[in-house]
Amino acid sequence: MHIAGIGTGYVGLVVGACLADIGNQVICVDKAEEKIKALKKNKIPIYEPELDELIIRNRKEGRLSFTTNLKEAVVKSKLIYLAVGTPPKKDGSLDLSDVYHVAEDIGDAIRDDYKIIINKSTVPVGTARRVGEIIRKRTNAPFDVISNPEFLKEGNAVEDFMKPDRIIIGTDNPEVGKIMKDLYAPFVRTGNPIIVMSIESAEMTKYASNAILAAKISFMNEISNLSEKVGADIEEVRRGMGYDPRIGASFIFPGVGYGGSCFPKDVKAIANMGREHNVKMLISEAVELVNETQKRIIYEKMKTHFGSLKNKKIAIWGLAFKPRTDDMREAPSIVTINCLLKEGVKVRVYDPEAMDNARKIFGNKIEYGRTSYECLENADALTLLTEWNEFRKPDFEKISRLLKNKVIFDGRNIYNIERLRKLGFTYYGIGRG
Ligand SMILES: NC(=O)c1ccc[n+]([C@@H]2O[C@H](COP(=O)([O-])OP(=O)(O)OC[C@H]3O[C@@H](n4cnc5c(N)ncnc54)[C@H](O)[C@@H]3O)[C@@H](O)[C@H]2O)c1
Repeated sequence: MHIAGIGTGYVGLVVGACLADIGNQVICVDKAEEKIKALKKNKIPIYEPELDELIIRNRKEGRLSFTTNLKEAVVKSKLIYLAVGTPPKKDGSLDLSDVYHVAEDIGDAIRDDYKIIINKSTVPVGTARRVGEIIRKRTNAPFDVISNPEFLKEGNAVEDFMKPDRIIIGTDNPEVGKIMKDLYAPFVRTGNPIIVMSIESAEMTKYASNAILAAKISFMNEISNLSEKVGADIEEVRRGMGYDPRIGASFIFPGVGYGGSCFPKDVKAIANMGREHNVKMLISEAVELVNETQKRIIYEKMKTHFGSLKNKKIAIWGLAFKPRTDDMREAPSIVTINCLLKEGVKVRVYDPEAMDNARKIFGNKIEYGRTSYECLENADALTLLTEWNEFRKPDFEKISRLLKNKVIFDGRNIYNIERLRKLGFTYYGIGRG
Protein backbone atom coordinates (compact mmCIF):
# COMPACT_ATOMS: atom_id res chain seq x y z
CA MET A 1 0.00 0.00 0.00
CA HIS A 2 1.27 3.52 -0.80
CA ILE A 3 0.93 5.73 2.24
CA ALA A 4 1.68 9.40 3.02
CA GLY A 5 2.09 10.52 6.64
CA ILE A 6 1.77 14.26 7.28
CA GLY A 7 3.62 15.37 10.43
CA THR A 8 6.80 13.65 11.63
CA GLY A 9 6.53 14.22 15.39
CA TYR A 10 6.27 11.68 18.20
CA VAL A 11 3.26 10.03 16.53
CA GLY A 12 3.90 10.54 12.81
CA LEU A 13 7.42 9.13 12.85
CA VAL A 14 6.41 6.00 14.73
CA VAL A 15 3.33 5.39 12.56
CA GLY A 16 5.31 5.93 9.35
CA ALA A 17 8.22 3.69 10.40
CA CYS A 18 5.98 0.88 11.67
CA LEU A 19 3.76 0.87 8.58
CA ALA A 20 6.87 0.78 6.38
CA ASP A 21 8.26 -2.08 8.45
CA ILE A 22 5.39 -4.40 7.52
CA GLY A 23 6.01 -3.77 3.83
CA ASN A 24 4.14 -0.60 2.90
CA GLN A 25 5.66 2.18 0.84
CA VAL A 26 5.57 5.22 3.16
CA ILE A 27 6.44 8.87 2.49
CA CYS A 28 6.61 11.02 5.64
CA VAL A 29 6.02 14.74 5.17
CA ASP A 30 6.81 17.66 7.46
CA LYS A 31 6.83 21.38 6.94
CA ALA A 32 9.86 21.72 9.23
CA GLU A 33 12.72 21.67 6.72
CA GLU A 34 15.44 21.13 9.34
CA LYS A 35 13.66 18.05 10.64
CA ILE A 36 13.37 16.53 7.17
CA LYS A 37 16.99 17.36 6.36
CA ALA A 38 18.08 15.61 9.56
CA LEU A 39 15.85 12.58 8.93
CA LYS A 40 17.32 12.22 5.44
CA LYS A 41 20.70 11.85 7.18
CA ASN A 42 19.28 9.24 9.59
CA LYS A 43 19.32 11.77 12.44
CA ILE A 44 16.19 11.14 14.50
CA PRO A 45 14.95 14.39 16.08
CA ILE A 46 13.34 12.74 19.14
CA TYR A 47 14.33 10.06 21.62
CA GLU A 48 12.03 7.05 21.39
CA PRO A 49 13.34 3.52 22.09
CA GLU A 50 13.79 1.34 18.96
CA LEU A 51 12.69 4.10 16.59
CA ASP A 52 16.08 5.01 15.14
CA GLU A 53 16.87 1.42 14.19
CA LEU A 54 13.43 1.05 12.55
CA ILE A 55 13.78 4.25 10.52
CA ILE A 56 17.32 3.54 9.38
CA ARG A 57 16.47 -0.03 8.31
CA ASN A 58 13.32 0.91 6.41
CA ARG A 59 15.02 3.83 4.65
CA LYS A 60 17.84 1.52 3.62
CA GLU A 61 15.38 -1.03 2.27
CA GLY A 62 13.62 1.69 0.26
CA ARG A 63 10.22 1.57 1.98
CA LEU A 64 10.45 4.82 3.96
CA SER A 65 11.31 8.29 2.71
CA PHE A 66 11.05 11.88 3.94
CA THR A 67 10.04 15.05 2.15
CA THR A 68 8.68 18.55 2.64
CA ASN A 69 6.67 18.18 -0.58
CA LEU A 70 3.15 17.37 0.61
CA LYS A 71 1.61 17.50 -2.87
CA GLU A 72 3.94 14.90 -4.32
CA ALA A 73 3.45 12.57 -1.34
CA VAL A 74 -0.34 12.88 -1.57
CA VAL A 75 -0.45 12.26 -5.32
CA LYS A 76 1.62 9.07 -4.93
CA SER A 77 -0.42 7.66 -2.02
CA LYS A 78 -3.81 6.06 -1.51
CA LEU A 79 -3.81 6.44 2.27
CA ILE A 80 -2.93 9.80 3.82
CA TYR A 81 -2.31 10.00 7.56
CA LEU A 82 -2.64 13.26 9.45
CA ALA A 83 -0.43 13.34 12.53
CA VAL A 84 0.16 17.05 12.99
CA GLY A 85 0.13 18.78 16.34
CA THR A 86 -3.08 20.05 17.96
CA PRO A 87 -1.70 22.25 20.75
CA PRO A 88 -3.92 23.79 23.42
CA LYS A 89 -4.93 27.44 23.44
CA LYS A 90 -5.14 29.37 26.71
CA ASP A 91 -8.91 28.77 27.09
CA GLY A 92 -8.49 24.96 26.86
CA SER A 93 -9.75 24.77 23.29
CA LEU A 94 -7.37 23.47 20.63
CA ASP A 95 -5.42 25.18 17.93
CA LEU A 96 -6.54 23.13 14.93
CA SER A 97 -4.91 25.38 12.37
CA ASP A 98 -2.28 22.80 11.36
CA VAL A 99 -5.00 20.17 10.78
CA TYR A 100 -7.04 22.57 8.66
CA HIS A 101 -4.01 23.81 6.69
CA VAL A 102 -3.09 20.26 5.85
CA ALA A 103 -6.71 19.62 4.82
CA GLU A 104 -6.49 22.58 2.41
CA ASP A 105 -3.18 21.34 1.02
CA ILE A 106 -4.60 17.83 0.54
CA GLY A 107 -7.68 19.31 -1.17
CA ASP A 108 -5.42 21.21 -3.56
CA ALA A 109 -3.25 18.16 -4.23
CA ILE A 110 -5.77 15.39 -4.95
CA ARG A 111 -7.14 15.22 -8.45
CA ASP A 112 -8.73 12.03 -9.80
CA ASP A 113 -7.70 9.01 -7.74
CA TYR A 114 -9.70 7.93 -4.70
CA LYS A 115 -7.95 8.66 -1.38
CA ILE A 116 -8.56 7.81 2.26
CA ILE A 117 -7.58 10.57 4.66
CA ILE A 118 -6.92 9.12 8.10
CA ASN A 119 -6.91 11.47 11.04
CA LYS A 120 -4.54 10.33 13.79
CA SER A 121 -4.22 13.68 15.52
CA THR A 122 -6.35 13.93 18.67
CA VAL A 123 -9.15 16.31 17.74
CA PRO A 124 -12.55 17.39 19.10
CA VAL A 125 -15.60 15.51 17.89
CA GLY A 126 -16.66 16.90 14.52
CA THR A 127 -13.15 17.69 13.25
CA ALA A 128 -12.89 14.81 10.75
CA ARG A 129 -16.19 15.95 9.17
CA ARG A 130 -14.86 19.53 9.04
CA VAL A 131 -11.68 18.25 7.34
CA GLY A 132 -13.90 16.52 4.79
CA GLU A 133 -15.79 19.77 4.10
CA ILE A 134 -12.54 21.69 3.59
CA ILE A 135 -11.22 19.12 1.12
CA ARG A 136 -14.59 18.86 -0.69
CA LYS A 137 -14.51 22.61 -1.42
CA ARG A 138 -11.17 22.22 -3.22
CA THR A 139 -11.55 19.05 -5.28
CA ASN A 140 -14.09 16.90 -7.11
CA ALA A 141 -12.04 13.75 -6.60
CA PRO A 142 -13.56 10.94 -4.53
CA PHE A 143 -12.24 10.53 -0.96
CA ASP A 144 -13.19 9.49 2.57
CA VAL A 145 -12.04 11.11 5.79
CA ILE A 146 -11.90 8.76 8.76
CA SER A 147 -10.88 8.95 12.40
CA ASN A 148 -8.24 6.51 13.61
CA PRO A 149 -7.10 7.80 17.01
CA GLU A 150 -3.68 6.76 18.23
CA PHE A 151 -3.13 5.17 21.65
CA LEU A 152 0.65 4.73 21.66
CA LYS A 153 2.59 5.82 24.74
CA GLU A 154 5.79 7.80 24.40
CA GLY A 155 8.65 5.70 25.75
CA ASN A 156 7.02 2.51 24.44
CA ALA A 157 5.59 3.85 21.20
CA VAL A 158 7.00 1.35 18.72
CA GLU A 159 5.93 -1.64 20.80
CA ASP A 160 2.48 -0.08 21.40
CA PHE A 161 1.94 0.55 17.69
CA MET A 162 3.16 -2.90 16.70
CA LYS A 163 1.05 -4.65 19.37
CA PRO A 164 -1.98 -2.45 20.02
CA ASP A 165 -4.59 -3.36 22.68
CA ARG A 166 -7.20 -2.34 20.16
CA ILE A 167 -7.51 -0.31 16.99
CA ILE A 168 -10.35 2.15 16.58
CA ILE A 169 -11.63 3.04 13.11
CA GLY A 170 -14.27 5.74 12.80
CA THR A 171 -15.94 5.66 9.39
CA ASP A 172 -19.41 5.52 7.90
CA ASN A 173 -18.16 3.68 4.80
CA PRO A 174 -18.02 -0.12 5.36
CA GLU A 175 -15.62 -0.52 2.41
CA VAL A 176 -13.12 1.77 4.15
CA GLY A 177 -13.53 -0.28 7.32
CA LYS A 178 -12.47 -3.36 5.32
CA ILE A 179 -9.42 -1.61 3.80
CA MET A 180 -8.27 -0.42 7.23
CA LYS A 181 -8.79 -3.86 8.79
CA ASP A 182 -6.66 -5.32 6.03
CA LEU A 183 -3.94 -2.70 6.56
CA TYR A 184 -3.78 -3.34 10.30
CA ALA A 185 -4.20 -7.15 10.20
CA PRO A 186 -0.43 -7.79 10.70
CA PHE A 187 -0.56 -5.89 14.01
CA VAL A 188 -3.40 -7.87 15.58
CA ARG A 189 -2.41 -11.45 14.92
CA THR A 190 -3.02 -12.38 18.57
CA GLY A 191 -6.66 -11.45 18.13
CA ASN A 192 -6.84 -7.97 19.61
CA PRO A 193 -9.86 -6.20 18.15
CA ILE A 194 -10.14 -3.69 15.34
CA ILE A 195 -13.35 -1.88 16.25
CA VAL A 196 -15.20 -0.02 13.52
CA MET A 197 -17.59 2.68 14.73
CA SER A 198 -18.95 6.08 13.77
CA ILE A 199 -16.49 8.91 13.19
CA GLU A 200 -17.87 10.82 16.19
CA SER A 201 -17.59 7.81 18.51
CA ALA A 202 -13.99 7.22 17.44
CA GLU A 203 -13.05 10.83 18.15
CA MET A 204 -14.77 10.66 21.54
CA THR A 205 -13.17 7.28 22.42
CA LYS A 206 -9.72 8.86 22.35
CA TYR A 207 -10.70 11.70 24.70
CA ALA A 208 -12.66 9.47 27.05
CA SER A 209 -9.74 7.02 27.27
CA ASN A 210 -7.18 9.69 28.13
CA ALA A 211 -9.52 11.47 30.52
CA ILE A 212 -10.22 8.33 32.57
CA LEU A 213 -6.50 7.51 32.82
CA ALA A 214 -5.76 11.07 33.94
CA ALA A 215 -8.65 10.80 36.41
CA LYS A 216 -7.11 7.70 38.00
CA ILE A 217 -3.85 9.57 38.51
CA SER A 218 -5.48 12.67 39.97
CA PHE A 219 -7.72 10.57 42.21
CA MET A 220 -4.73 8.73 43.64
CA ASN A 221 -2.83 11.98 44.10
CA GLU A 222 -5.76 13.38 46.05
CA ILE A 223 -5.94 10.23 48.20
CA SER A 224 -2.17 10.39 48.73
CA ASN A 225 -2.43 13.91 50.13
CA LEU A 226 -5.15 12.79 52.52
CA SER A 227 -3.17 9.66 53.46
CA GLU A 228 -0.22 11.80 54.45
CA LYS A 229 -2.35 13.92 56.78
CA VAL A 230 -4.09 10.99 58.48
CA GLY A 231 -1.01 8.77 58.87
CA ALA A 232 -1.70 6.23 56.12
CA ASP A 233 0.92 5.17 53.57
CA ILE A 234 -0.37 5.53 50.01
CA GLU A 235 1.99 2.79 48.82
CA GLU A 236 0.25 0.29 51.12
CA VAL A 237 -3.13 1.69 50.10
CA ARG A 238 -2.24 1.42 46.40
CA ARG A 239 -1.24 -2.23 46.74
CA GLY A 240 -4.40 -2.89 48.71
CA MET A 241 -6.49 -1.41 45.92
CA GLY A 242 -4.72 -2.66 42.81
CA TYR A 243 -5.54 -6.36 43.25
CA ASP A 244 -9.23 -5.59 42.76
CA PRO A 245 -9.68 -6.28 39.04
CA ARG A 246 -12.40 -3.61 38.86
CA ILE A 247 -9.75 -1.06 39.86
CA GLY A 248 -6.59 -2.53 38.32
CA ALA A 249 -2.98 -2.01 39.29
CA SER A 250 -1.97 0.45 36.58
CA PHE A 251 -2.32 4.25 36.64
CA ILE A 252 -2.78 4.33 40.40
CA PHE A 253 0.76 5.41 41.22
CA PRO A 254 0.85 8.69 43.14
CA GLY A 255 3.40 11.27 42.09
CA VAL A 256 4.04 14.84 41.08
CA GLY A 257 1.22 14.98 38.55
CA TYR A 258 0.84 13.95 34.93
CA GLY A 259 2.40 15.87 32.06
CA GLY A 260 3.16 15.31 28.40
CA SER A 261 1.52 16.50 25.25
CA CYS A 262 -1.64 14.44 25.71
CA PHE A 263 -3.27 14.17 29.15
CA PRO A 264 -3.19 17.87 30.10
CA LYS A 265 -4.32 18.98 26.65
CA ASP A 266 -6.95 16.27 26.22
CA VAL A 267 -8.52 16.70 29.66
CA LYS A 268 -8.80 20.46 29.07
CA ALA A 269 -10.19 19.84 25.58
CA ILE A 270 -12.93 17.46 26.76
CA ALA A 271 -13.94 19.97 29.42
CA ASN A 272 -14.00 22.65 26.75
CA MET A 273 -16.13 20.45 24.48
CA GLY A 274 -18.57 20.21 27.39
CA ARG A 275 -18.71 24.01 27.75
CA GLU A 276 -19.35 24.39 24.02
CA HIS A 277 -22.25 21.93 24.19
CA ASN A 278 -23.58 23.10 27.54
CA VAL A 279 -22.73 19.87 29.33
CA LYS A 280 -21.07 20.15 32.74
CA MET A 281 -17.80 18.17 32.76
CA LEU A 282 -17.24 18.37 36.51
CA ILE A 283 -14.94 15.37 36.75
CA SER A 284 -12.65 16.49 33.93
CA GLU A 285 -12.45 20.01 35.38
CA ALA A 286 -11.51 18.59 38.78
CA VAL A 287 -8.96 16.16 37.33
CA GLU A 288 -7.09 19.03 35.75
CA LEU A 289 -7.30 21.23 38.84
CA VAL A 290 -5.96 18.47 41.12
CA ASN A 291 -3.12 17.90 38.68
CA GLU A 292 -2.08 21.53 38.52
CA THR A 293 -1.97 21.63 42.32
CA GLN A 294 -0.05 18.35 42.50
CA LYS A 295 2.71 19.67 40.24
CA ARG A 296 3.64 22.08 43.08
CA ILE A 297 3.71 19.39 45.78
CA ILE A 298 7.49 18.95 45.95
CA TYR A 299 8.02 22.69 46.06
CA GLU A 300 5.53 22.96 48.95
CA LYS A 301 7.34 20.17 50.81
CA MET A 302 10.67 21.93 50.32
CA LYS A 303 9.25 25.16 51.71
CA THR A 304 7.97 23.32 54.76
CA HIS A 305 11.31 21.61 55.29
CA PHE A 306 13.70 24.52 54.69
CA GLY A 307 11.57 27.53 55.62
CA SER A 308 13.34 30.02 53.36
CA LEU A 309 14.59 28.58 50.09
CA LYS A 310 16.71 31.58 49.15
CA ASN A 311 20.22 30.61 47.99
CA LYS A 312 19.55 26.91 48.59
CA LYS A 313 21.05 24.55 46.02
CA ILE A 314 18.65 21.88 44.81
CA ALA A 315 19.62 18.95 42.59
CA ILE A 316 16.91 17.49 40.36
CA TRP A 317 17.02 14.03 38.83
CA GLY A 318 14.56 13.59 35.95
CA LEU A 319 13.05 16.29 33.75
CA ALA A 320 11.09 14.42 31.07
CA PHE A 321 7.40 14.04 31.86
CA LYS A 322 8.01 10.31 32.19
CA PRO A 323 10.89 7.86 31.72
CA ARG A 324 12.11 6.68 28.29
CA THR A 325 11.28 9.92 26.49
CA ASP A 326 12.99 13.29 26.00
CA ASP A 327 9.59 15.03 25.92
CA MET A 328 9.21 17.83 28.47
CA ARG A 329 5.89 19.23 27.26
CA GLU A 330 3.81 20.13 30.38
CA ALA A 331 6.30 18.20 32.56
CA PRO A 332 5.92 18.65 36.33
CA SER A 333 9.67 19.43 36.39
CA ILE A 334 8.95 22.75 34.63
CA VAL A 335 6.52 23.85 37.36
CA THR A 336 8.87 22.73 40.14
CA ILE A 337 11.90 24.48 38.64
CA ASN A 338 9.99 27.71 37.97
CA CYS A 339 8.70 27.78 41.58
CA LEU A 340 12.25 27.24 42.88
CA LEU A 341 13.78 29.89 40.61
CA LYS A 342 11.23 32.43 41.87
CA GLU A 343 12.44 31.74 45.43
CA GLY A 344 16.07 32.35 44.48
CA VAL A 345 17.08 28.68 44.52
CA LYS A 346 20.13 27.51 42.54
CA VAL A 347 18.85 24.56 40.51
CA ARG A 348 21.09 21.90 38.99
CA VAL A 349 19.50 19.18 36.88
CA TYR A 350 20.22 15.87 35.23
CA ASP A 351 18.12 13.74 32.88
CA PRO A 352 19.37 10.90 30.66
CA GLU A 353 17.59 12.21 27.55
CA ALA A 354 15.84 15.54 28.13
CA MET A 355 18.83 17.85 28.69
CA ASP A 356 18.63 19.44 25.23
CA ASN A 357 14.94 20.18 25.67
CA ALA A 358 15.64 21.58 29.16
CA ARG A 359 18.27 23.94 27.70
CA LYS A 360 15.65 25.20 25.21
CA ILE A 361 13.27 25.97 28.09
CA PHE A 362 15.59 27.27 30.85
CA GLY A 363 18.76 28.38 29.02
CA ASN A 364 21.32 29.55 31.56
CA LYS A 365 18.81 30.06 34.40
CA ILE A 366 19.76 26.62 35.75
CA GLU A 367 22.88 24.44 35.77
CA TYR A 368 23.18 21.14 33.92
CA GLY A 369 25.00 18.18 35.50
CA ARG A 370 27.16 16.06 33.21
CA THR A 371 26.24 12.98 35.21
CA SER A 372 23.59 12.23 37.80
CA TYR A 373 26.17 12.29 40.60
CA GLU A 374 27.94 15.46 39.46
CA CYS A 375 24.57 17.16 39.70
CA LEU A 376 24.53 16.48 43.48
CA GLU A 377 27.77 18.15 44.53
CA ASN A 378 27.17 20.41 47.52
CA ALA A 379 23.39 20.48 47.01
CA ASP A 380 21.01 20.97 49.92
CA ALA A 381 18.72 18.21 48.67
CA LEU A 382 18.16 15.66 45.94
CA THR A 383 14.77 15.77 44.24
CA LEU A 384 13.58 12.89 42.10
CA LEU A 385 10.94 13.89 39.56
CA THR A 386 11.13 11.23 36.80
CA GLU A 387 11.62 7.56 37.68
CA TRP A 388 14.21 6.61 35.04
CA ASN A 389 15.65 3.12 35.67
CA GLU A 390 19.11 4.52 36.35
CA PHE A 391 17.75 6.44 39.36
CA ARG A 392 16.09 3.43 40.99
CA LYS A 393 19.05 1.84 42.75
CA PRO A 394 21.64 4.59 43.15
CA ASP A 395 24.69 4.46 45.40
CA PHE A 396 23.29 6.13 48.53
CA GLU A 397 26.71 6.18 50.25
CA LYS A 398 28.00 8.26 47.34
CA ILE A 399 24.90 10.45 47.41
CA SER A 400 25.38 11.15 51.09
CA ARG A 401 29.05 12.10 50.51
CA LEU A 402 28.12 14.49 47.67
CA LEU A 403 25.11 16.27 49.19
CA LYS A 404 25.58 19.07 51.69
CA ASN A 405 22.37 18.06 53.48
CA LYS A 406 21.16 14.49 53.43
CA VAL A 407 17.64 15.30 52.29
CA ILE A 408 15.72 13.47 49.55
CA PHE A 409 12.42 14.54 48.02
CA ASP A 410 11.14 11.50 46.16
CA GLY A 411 8.39 12.64 43.79
CA ARG A 412 7.70 9.11 42.55
CA ASN A 413 7.97 7.01 45.75
CA ILE A 414 10.70 4.81 44.32
CA TYR A 415 12.97 4.73 47.36
CA ASN A 416 12.74 2.61 50.47
CA ILE A 417 11.98 4.89 53.42
CA GLU A 418 13.38 2.57 56.09
CA ARG A 419 16.67 2.08 54.28
CA LEU A 420 17.16 5.79 53.68
CA ARG A 421 16.33 6.67 57.27
CA LYS A 422 18.84 4.08 58.49
CA LEU A 423 21.46 5.76 56.29
CA GLY A 424 20.64 9.06 57.99
CA PHE A 425 18.65 10.70 55.21
CA THR A 426 15.63 12.89 55.79
CA TYR A 427 13.11 11.48 53.33
CA TYR A 428 9.98 13.01 51.85
CA GLY A 429 7.79 10.97 49.52
CA ILE A 430 4.25 11.45 48.26
CA GLY A 431 1.45 10.44 50.60
CA ARG A 432 3.61 8.37 52.93
CA GLY A 433 2.21 9.43 56.30
N1 LIG B 1 2.69 12.31 21.56
C1 LIG B 1 1.89 11.31 21.90
O1 LIG B 1 2.22 10.46 22.75
C2 LIG B 1 0.53 11.18 21.25
C3 LIG B 1 -0.20 9.98 21.41
C4 LIG B 1 -1.45 9.88 20.79
C5 LIG B 1 -1.95 10.94 20.05
N2 LIG B 1 -1.23 12.09 19.93
C6 LIG B 1 -1.79 13.17 19.11
O2 LIG B 1 -1.13 13.11 17.84
C7 LIG B 1 -0.97 14.45 17.32
C8 LIG B 1 0.50 14.69 17.04
O3 LIG B 1 1.21 14.64 18.26
P1 LIG B 1 2.81 14.66 18.31
O4 LIG B 1 3.19 14.51 19.74
O5 LIG B 1 3.35 13.71 17.30
O6 LIG B 1 3.08 16.17 17.81
P2 LIG B 1 4.47 16.84 17.44
O7 LIG B 1 4.34 18.27 17.78
O8 LIG B 1 5.60 16.04 17.99
O9 LIG B 1 4.55 16.70 15.84
C9 LIG B 1 3.72 17.36 14.94
C10 LIG B 1 4.47 17.55 13.63
O10 LIG B 1 3.57 18.05 12.64
C11 LIG B 1 4.29 18.92 11.81
N3 LIG B 1 3.38 19.79 11.06
C12 LIG B 1 2.56 20.76 11.55
N4 LIG B 1 1.89 21.35 10.52
C13 LIG B 1 2.28 20.73 9.39
C14 LIG B 1 1.95 20.89 8.02
N5 LIG B 1 1.09 21.82 7.63
N6 LIG B 1 2.54 20.09 7.13
C15 LIG B 1 3.44 19.15 7.52
N7 LIG B 1 3.80 18.96 8.80
C16 LIG B 1 3.23 19.73 9.72
C17 LIG B 1 5.18 19.69 12.79
O11 LIG B 1 6.26 20.33 12.14
C18 LIG B 1 5.62 18.55 13.72
O12 LIG B 1 6.83 17.95 13.27
C19 LIG B 1 -1.56 15.37 18.38
O13 LIG B 1 -2.90 15.65 18.04
C20 LIG B 1 -1.50 14.56 19.66
O14 LIG B 1 -2.48 14.93 20.58
C21 LIG B 1 0.00 12.23 20.51
